[in-house]
Amino acid sequence: KEIKIYSPATIANVSCGFDVLGVCLDNVGDEMIFRQSEQKGLRIVEITGADLPLEIEQNVAGVAGKALMEQLNPNFGIEMIIHKKIKAGSGIGSSAASAAGAVYGINALCGYPLTNKELIYYAMQGEALVSGAPHADNVAPALLGGFAFIRSYAPLDIISIPAPKELYATVIHPQIELKTIDSRSVLKQTVGLKQAITQCGNLGGLISALYTEDYDLLGRCLHDEFVEPKRSLLIPNFAALKQVAVKCGALGGGISGAGPSVFVLSRGKQIADCVASEMRNIVKEADYQCDIHVSPINPKGI
Ligand code: HSE
Repeated sequence: KEIKIYSPATIANVSCGFDVLGVCLDNVGDEMIFRQSEQKGLRIVEITGADLPLEIEQNVAGVAGKALMEQLNPNFGIEMIIHKKIKAGSGIGSSAASAAGAVYGINALCGYPLTNKELIYYAMQGEALVSGAPHADNVAPALLGGFAFIRSYAPLDIISIPAPKELYATVIHPQIELKTIDSRSVLKQTVGLKQAITQCGNLGGLISALYTEDYDLLGRCLHDEFVEPKRSLLIPNFAALKQVAVKCGALGGGISGAGPSVFVLSRGKQIADCVASEMRNIVKEADYQCDIHVSPINPKGI
């Protein structure tokens, strides 16, 4: 028995939802293949597209997959092949795609004993390996689609939120690698009361805008008081890239996950394409390569 899956890229934080909000992209993702084997246990037999370890304990997909295998204890083994298309350290959930894909594929080969929501916990174990914190704001939207909101980590309480239908994301990935663990290490561990109030207002407004498809409100809420002031210093041309949203009439944007990718959300593809071309102009002269994706929101996840 063999199954092939597509594990999507995601934007974590979405500006004001640090560690508690993420959204699933539609046309960027990894391919993964899972096969039953006679030899029990989990093995990664091949990885293409990235120089990543095959050892289970050192691989995000391996750690997440093993955690699930221990829970399900199937009477067969599983071999996993990973074709990485999302670059590591890009800020669009590369490690999450591996972790979420691994648990989804294993669960599928076992006959779907767990729901995708139940799989999130196991996928988070993989995230912990690379980022130092088992955050769920990439793995949850990858497994559930649309927007995923983490109301609480202990106990885990995750709410799936549908995406407004005309919403598009433009994501630029400057090809410098920024590891989540490093990008987390620059953050302050405390926030001021005034900042917290502003952030709560924006996050509440953003959630409301998603349900009511109020694009103007959504745009007003795309601000971040907590991490952007620190992390933006690590991203070349950040202010100019974000400013493109205003020029094209987009809703707004910020840092995608831990960076260095920068995202802008737009109502409709035409504006999202304008954002992409203006971003391209900004980085034309730069001495580093960039990938730019324009994507609708993936409503289903893996
Ligand atoms: N919420 C996480 C962070 C996402 O910003 O560190 C990492 O992709």
